[in-house]
Amino acid sequence: MSAISPEEIAYAAAKLRGGDLVAFPTETVYGLGADATNDHAVASIFKAKGRPEFNPLIAHVVDRAAAERQAVFDQDATTLTEAYWPGPLTLVLPKRPDCTISMLALCGLDTVALRCPAAAVAQALLAEVDCPIAAPSANSSGRLSPTTAQHVANDLDGKVNFILDGGPCSIGVESTIVDLSVTPAVLLRPGAITREDIATIIDIRDGKGDAHVPKAPGQLLSHYAPHTPLRLNATGVDTDEALLAFGPSVLDGASVVHNLSPAGDLAEAAANLFAMLHALDDYGARAIAVTAIPDDGLGGAINDRLRRAAAR
Ligand code: TXA
Ligand code: MG
Repeated sequence: MSAISPEEIAYAAAKLRGGDLVAFPTETVYGLGADATNDHAVASIFKAKGRPEFNPLIAHVVDRAAAERQAVFDQDATTLTEAYWPGPLTLVLPKRPDCTISMLALCGLDTVALRCPAAAVAQALLAEVDCPIAAPSANSSGRLSPTTAQHVANDLDGKVNFILDGGPCSIGVESTIVDLSVTPAVLLRPGAITREDIATIIDIRDGKGDAHVPKAPGQLLSHYAPHTPLRLNATGVDTDEALLAFGPSVLDGASVVHNLSPAGDLAEAAANLFAMLHALDDYGARAIAVTAIPDDGLGGAINDRLRRAAAR
């Protein structure tokens, strides 16, 4: 299932070059990819997701050289990419005048969000297709992000031309987004690379307070929403509720329980987050009660996604 042949990569790349949509795994979540330089292909991403057109897309690149052909790199961009690329870090940068990425993908902005994913399948696809790939998470707009090929198939059935199945994503929450087009830099979305990590390298402020003017829809309060209502920081649970637990001590009485990490490991919890929310959502309980999760390290990104999933 997770072994992908060179033939599959070549097939997926040919589909992308032909303007089709290809879902592919990254280390964070599955992306719904299209040739970022092709307006028609990019338009079909918005159509498949039912995505509001004012939400710009991330362009994925094979390496920093490819990124530097699209955006203006300053010293901060260079140091951050040296430290974290390839990896779960997206940079918002001023676009170059000769940027080839579709204006539709950029939603007319003069900045571009660039990410160089580390997952081997994503790297192989980017190397083979030889153009930036525009890819939001491969889910309908506002729904849970997919961390398996099956999630993509369930949500976008018939709307995506090909799905590369690379098995479950290792990180499980979307990339950290840092806006370097402003000074000081702003954290637009928390992820596996934390603000504390980045603050050791550059000056950065938290963008949380800016949620009323979202630059990233990850900042819209209701996002990543399951159909079942979520109840956070639960200290008890009802028999008609599902429970999303964390750590060794699990509340009694839920109709069904998934434990993000019985050992209390935040990386394991992040990797399980969307898959368990998907599974509990399908169960159709009255609500999903969620145990409190520590807010340090990856816990910050997990709690960010949970707060948005709970808002409606
Ligand atoms: O981990 C990830 O980042 C995944 C995988 C597939 O790479 N992608 C992902 O894409 O989460 P998406 O479209 O669901 O989220 C992209 C975020 C959005 O919140 C969007 O508003 C923001 O990036 N974004 C894109 N271009 C931007 C720009 N020029 N300025 C500010 N935010 C931007
Ligand atoms: Mg998304």
